[in-house]
Amino acid sequence: MSPVDQSGGAETAQPGVAVSAHAERKDEHVRLAMSLHAPGKTTPWADISFLHHALPGTALDAVDLSTRVLGSSWQVPFYVNAMTGGTESTGRLNAALAEAAAAAGVAIASGSQHVALRDRAREDTFRIIRRTAPGAFVLANVGPTVAPDDAARAVEMLEADALQVHVNVAQEVPMPEGDRDFSGWAGRIAQIADAAQVPVVVKEVGFGLSRRTVDLLASLGVAAADVAGNGGTDFVAIETARREDGAYRDLVGWGQSAALCLLECLHGPAGSAPVELLASGAVRTPLDVVRGLALGARAVGASGHFMRTLTESGPEALYRELVSWKEQVRGIMALLGASRVEDLACTDLLVTGATAERARLLSVD
Ligand code: FNR
Repeated sequence: MSPVDQSGGAETAQPGVAVSAHAERKDEHVRLAMSLHAPGKTTPWADISFLHHALPGTALDAVDLSTRVLGSSWQVPFYVNAMTGGTESTGRLNAALAEAAAAAGVAIASGSQHVALRDRAREDTFRIIRRTAPGAFVLANVGPTVAPDDAARAVEMLEADALQVHVNVAQEVPMPEGDRDFSGWAGRIAQIADAAQVPVVVKEVGFGLSRRTVDLLASLGVAAADVAGNGGTDFVAIETARREDGAYRDLVGWGQSAALCLLECLHGPAGSAPVELLASGAVRTPLDVVRGLALGARAVGASGHFMRTLTESGPEALYRELVSWKEQVRGIMALLGASRVEDLACTDLLVTGATAERARLLSVD
């Protein structure tokens, strides 16, 4: 069964009613996810703060927002992370997300393309991303069950610059029709990474990547890992809302936050992380972006917040939000004495609350 989009494994593709039924659930996913992104909700990022230094010696105009990700230079150190596609309405959402991202110079990831790999009639709901954002850095998206050839088709579909492979065990388990066998995932990721013509990023979907997992991913040959931690979109909450028996409700909140994941990668046994790190999960403000960068991410992604901005306030509001985030990230970097993204690694971070408590329990050599 396909992860995240529940559209069925691409390698067992059978276009038809099943594909249609599964694809329509994407609309439901967007609706259920939006209820998790009420403004003002506290997230684990609140545990990360900065020591203020009153003479930072910087100028806003001198701040360079660019960052190097997967061998490319991104103008902006945040991106619109993977969400949707597959139905008429989610295709329209992809077009609006891509238009705003392109206009603001922001990179964008597609939602899982499994449904289009099974049913070519749905390809346009993904292709619209590249058509709308011809010059953007675009990431294709598949799960760890697809054959390398299908992963290549997903990349071609979007003329993508990189490929995301999502790992979502904690979503599959409570999903009644979800996968039940995860034993082949690591091996398949290695095959996909080996065959891919573009860099491969493995991402979680909101439960976090532990240092152990990141080390394993490095050994599988992936270029980067997006730790995609908890506290924002929660696919256990979404899947359990879709079932009537109340099973697995106690898993809501499963996993670890992006901040904790980054801390574990920074301070793990081998020192710095063995692959490039990206961070996402519960990112709602420009300060969250700077927190993620200061903890070692090359760029920081947001999904639910941008989708909520789009669905509640429209495409123009999303564009204004992206532009405003750029200006605010610039301002916060200047405040912190950082003229470049790399300089943020030298800021004085304070880790408090549950994140500090949990970080103390991590094994550090
Ligand atoms: C997602 N996410 C996701 N991830 C992925 O790799 N493939 C996908 O198809 C989807 N689909 C999807 C739909 C919707 C509606 C949302 C909100 C999210 C997960 C997403 O990329 C991200 O990892 C998590 O949502 C955590 O980030 P936020 O939402 O807390 O910023």
